[in-house]
This record gives sequence, structure tokens and C-alpha cells, in this order.
Amino acid sequence: MKLIVKKDYEEMSKKAADIMIEEIKGNPNIILGLATGSTPIGMYKRMIKRHKEGEVDFSNVKSFNLDEYVGLKGSNPSSYKYFMNENLFDHINIGKENTYIPDGNAKDLNLYSKEYDNLIKKMGGIDIQVLGIGTNGHIGFNEPAKELAVGTSIVKLTENTMKDNSRFFDNPEEIPNTAITMGMGSILKAKKILLLISGENKKEITKRLLENNKVTTQLPASFLLLHPDVTIIVDEKAYKK
Ligand code: GLP
Repeated sequence: MKLIVKKDYEEMSKKAADIMIEEIKGNPNIILGLATGSTPIGMYKRMIKRHKEGEVDFSNVKSFNLDEYVGLKGSNPSSYKYFMNENLFDHINIGKENTYIPDGNAKDLNLYSKEYDNLIKKMGGIDIQVLGIGTNGHIGFNEPAKELAVGTSIVKLTENTMKDNSRFFDNPEEIPNTAITMGMGSILKAKKILLLISGENKKEITKRLLENNKVTTQLPASFLLLHPDVTIIVDEKAYKK
């Protein structure tokens, strides 16, 4: 595991964008695994800027997102589909047909979840997966629990996560309590993983993650310790002792 500590959010985002752009330039047909939340927004902004400056071309890139709320329409500004269009896809030359986001409105969600993993496999697998982390250690929407799903699946969100994420909803009461998320196996199959951590509110979880050389389903991000190619970029606010 490679740990990079950066001064602040801006520096973390810059380094993350540098890594992503190098990967895309090295493989124009790359398959990206993408994340939502406030943490990757700065990285996406820089990727957009450098695309607009002509440095990076997304025309052959494909992407798979980690997760989505169940029951929100893509036109709902709080949906992850809307988030991705707004924060990245609408501003780069990626084909929208090449951007995959789990469909939280699929008729048969269990069947759809299997198909999502199969599609990732069929496309050749994710080359680099971007992750954020929940204050409770979740990745994607894999919440701390006695057992964690291997493949993409439907999960109940914890009160903690619903509280953390209610800030993205005009009416915090409207946050769904169910989501579809890539499972731990879906995430760990990515060839490379880039975990971004920023801010004071992530200090405790960062400490738990980095100090315990153990895996536990109660801290889903700890499973990243088993992956051979993980880079963590953390800012000083999240890292300081
Ligand atoms: C949500 C997403 C996660 C993300 C997390 C952290 O729960 N499902 O994929 O990592 O939020 O969000 P933030 O970056 O806003 O702290």
C-alpha cells in the first residue's frame, strides 16, 4: 500500500488527477471505476480542466460507477447519475453510452446486480478504481456488518451514512435507505485502487484504517490491505495525529 500525504484538499485533488491522467494517457481504452461524494470533486475538476486544455482524451474511455441510491430517478439532482453528469461527464468527451452507473430503478435489482458485475468482466475489468471512504469505513456503500457481499448487491444504509449523506438532499428526510453498490469482490478485482481521504471528519477512520494491520467486516475499507496495488492519498486534516 502506497501512502501519500498532501497538505490540503487542493493538493490531494491535484495528485489524484495527475495519477488518473497518466493512467488514461498510458491506456486510451482504459476502464475507470468512479466514485461520488464530495471527496473526488476536486480531482474531477482538474481532469475537466486538463481535458479542456487538450491534454487528455476520453473518447475511448469507459467508466463504471460504484453505487447508486435505489429508487431515485437519474433526473433527481441527488442521484449519483446526476452527480456524475454534472461533475464530470458533461464536461469531457466521454461517450455517455460508455458510462455505466448502477441502475437503482432496475425491475429486478438482484438480477441487474449480477449483470453489472458480468458487464464489468466482459469489458475486461476495471483498470483503476477511485474510492472515497465513509466516516464509518464504508467503501462504495458496503457498510460495516457481520458479512459483506462479494458481488454488486442491494444494501440497507446505516443511520450514520444516511446522516452523513443527507447534506446532498434538499430535504434530508428524502434520502433513500437502500442502495445498490459494487461488492467488496467487485472492488478488489480492480487492477489498481486509488483511495482519496480528506478532512477533519475522516481523521478517526483514517487512523483506524492505517493503524490496524487487520481486516474486519466492521471496517470494510480494511479489505484494501489485501489488494496488491492500492494508493491512498490523504490530506493533513485527515492524517494528522
Ligand atoms: C458515499 C458514497 C461513497 C463515498 C462516501 C464518502 O457514501 N457512496 O462511495 O466514498 O459517500 O463521501 P464524501 O467523499 O462526501 O465524504
